[in-house]
Amino acid sequence: MTVPLLSLSGVSRHFGALAAVDDVSLDIPAGARHALIGPNGAGKSTLFRLVTGAERVSAGTVALDGRDVTRRSEPQRARMGISQTRQHSSLFPTRTVEQNVLLAAQRRHGSPRSLLPRRQRAARDRVRELVADVGLEARLDTPAAALSHGEQRQLEVAVALACEPRLLLLDEPAAGMSPAESARLVALLQALPADVTLVIVEHDLDVVFALADAVTVLHLGRVLLTGSPDEVRASDAVQGAYLGTGREALFLDTDARTEVG
Ligand SMILES: Nc1ncnc2c1ncn2[C@@H]1O[C@H](COP(=O)(O)OP(=O)(O)OP(=O)(O)O)[C@@H](O)[C@H]1O
Ligand SMILES: [Mg+2]
Repeated sequence: MTVPLLSLSGVSRHFGALAAVDDVSLDIPAGARHALIGPNGAGKSTLFRLVTGAERVSAGTVALDGRDVTRRSEPQRARMGISQTRQHSSLFPTRTVEQNVLLAAQRRHGSPRSLLPRRQRAARDRVRELVADVGLEARLDTPAAALSHGEQRQLEVAVALACEPRLLLLDEPAAGMSPAESARLVALLQALPADVTLVIVEHDLDVVFALADAVTVLHLGRVLLTGSPDEVRASDAVQGAYLGTGREALFLDTDARTEVG
């Protein structure tokens, strides 16, 4: 049996009496395009932070490629290939598009001053390629703060890719994007190399269903269902947690969370 790239086993995170993430077990195979959906407050961003190591689990284990990383720090996990975009921007606002991507590449490969000139050129070429991939080639010298909201999200994807992740976690990358921007984002993510495993949190179900080969529905910190996009669309449980159809789906019952302790 192949080892999943990411394996969560009985993962919980409590904040006082609140079980923000509650006994989540989930295996994500290498190369997956996995979406994580659920209402506001379902625990999606918290679960991402438990995977990156930004937050510690209250219980359970996180394994990357069969190695238990539960006790590893966030920088250690980043070096092992976990990269994420955050729900709230983590760009350097006064730095240009190019500098933002270059800084991320340097965190991975070391400062260019420590590299041979040939390597420095290669690193710069790679940065420009990434910027072009996300459609920002005309904005290379623009400070991040001067980009539109959608462009900032595109830049965040380039920054995450500069870390050469094996596991890329995207938290609401299409939030606030125009339809044209989110279509561009979908095309970019569809073109990611097959060896980059993608887990995406997204409220825009058009984006989710365009990308995902598997979907997990999180509700009140717990996994309601993991299945193929068709299974998730058809599920009574999901229909019960969502009200409405299509991209305007709303969630019910967000206050009925289980209390612990
Ligand atoms: N540091 C914290 N301290 C206390 N409670 C927290 C903390 N972080 C998250 N929570 C709570 O945990 C629950 C899950 O939050 P989380 O941000 O993970 O949800 P989400 O699914 O990402 O929601 P959204 O779709 O709105 O982004 C919420 O009730 C939130 O208020
Ligand atoms: Mg969130």
